[in-house]
Amino acid sequence: MPIRMLTLEDLDLAGKRVFLRVDINTPVHPETGQLMEQERLKEAAMTINDLPDSKVVVASHQGRVGRSDYTSLEAHARVLGEILGKRVDFVPDVFGPGALSAIDSLGDGGVLVLDNLRFTAEENQEYKPPEAEKTFLVRRLKDHVDACVLDAFSTAHRASPTIVGFAGLVPTCAGRTVGRELRMLDRIASVEKGPYVTVLGGAKVNDRLEAIDALIANKRADKVLLCGVVGLVFLKAAGKLKGDLGIDGEQKFVLKARQLMDEDPERFALPVDVAIRANGERKEVDPAGLGAQVKVLDIGSKTVDNYSRFIKGAGTVFMSGPPGAFEWDEFSLGTEGLLRAMAASLGTTIISGGHLSTALHKYGVHDQIDHTSTAGGALVQYLAGKRLPLIDALERAADRWGKGQA
Ligand code: 3PG
Repeated sequence: MPIRMLTLEDLDLAGKRVFLRVDINTPVHPETGQLMEQERLKEAAMTINDLPDSKVVVASHQGRVGRSDYTSLEAHARVLGEILGKRVDFVPDVFGPGALSAIDSLGDGGVLVLDNLRFTAEENQEYKPPEAEKTFLVRRLKDHVDACVLDAFSTAHRASPTIVGFAGLVPTCAGRTVGRELRMLDRIASVEKGPYVTVLGGAKVNDRLEAIDALIANKRADKVLLCGVVGLVFLKAAGKLKGDLGIDGEQKFVLKARQLMDEDPERFALPVDVAIRANGERKEVDPAGLGAQVKVLDIGSKTVDNYSRFIKGAGTVFMSGPPGAFEWDEFSLGTEGLLRAMAASLGTTIISGGHLSTALHKYGVHDQIDHTSTAGGALVQYLAGKRLPLIDALERAADRWGKGQA
């Protein structure tokens, strides 16, 4: 069913202070601190370019508390300025006096990036809309903005204050990224067919495991091909990998994986070989023979062949999260192999997450995929049929601020 929402054309935003909630959360190189890709920044730039006469306040989170990518947004502001080809200001503050006076000093056409929203405790929590409206973050900012544009599709599954707190307080509409994503997903839903193959990789095990039941219930996963860290959790649950993976919540994840495989063993495919580093080089091995502390960096070639057959025979394939550490050439075989199988598939193909979007460009096959989204967990949950807080906020805003309502 089409989603009720306002777009940039529905609000008069010229000369207004616009709070633009984007998701420019980007992998950061652990040693150099440099941003490792620009896909989400380019998406944000598209919406900013369509607000030429507004005073644009760009807001995003970056990383998670305690992780190495939990950084300031100063570098993001610099890269955004390069992409836009215009001056972009940065303020190392979120809702304190520095941020508020920087917002008030913006001129028409000005762009200001606030610091990482997750530097505030409230943005790390989830709220129902009435409680989100009472957070200091929203209460302080709302008197300094005239409108809100929600464009953080990849954060649509987090009910944080800046996602759900403004829609009832100031006129709120969707930005270009949200519009593009929902249009494409609607189009795909009208043509897609089975069998449905879902390829789950990457390191965000919690998000993937939380969604598997719903993906199955929503008939999105006739076959689930597992790889990346998620694949290792399933291998461990199947008793085919020794030792600890060293991830938070590991025991709980392994139990959940065990339960899923017990319920329906045929649905899940696990790697039959994996790649490790031995004497500085790639070596493919049977995971069952690995010592407890050895780090797995990719799936092996037999697994790539096996999974590629499923992908090629699918009516619809959805892939989220990379199978291996493709940023190193010797561990890119799994990611490249599965993406090439997706590109060659006659079925409908959907790729999810910033890493895979970057990899698609690296291998030059991005235009052979039906829909590429920089969203990871949010898209998984959307396809699993879950209600997303950001979409709820847009629907409430359409009712509150649509024609004749304001
Ligand atoms: C993502 O990269 O999936 C989004 O930015 C959300 O990040 P989170 O999983 O840390 O909330």
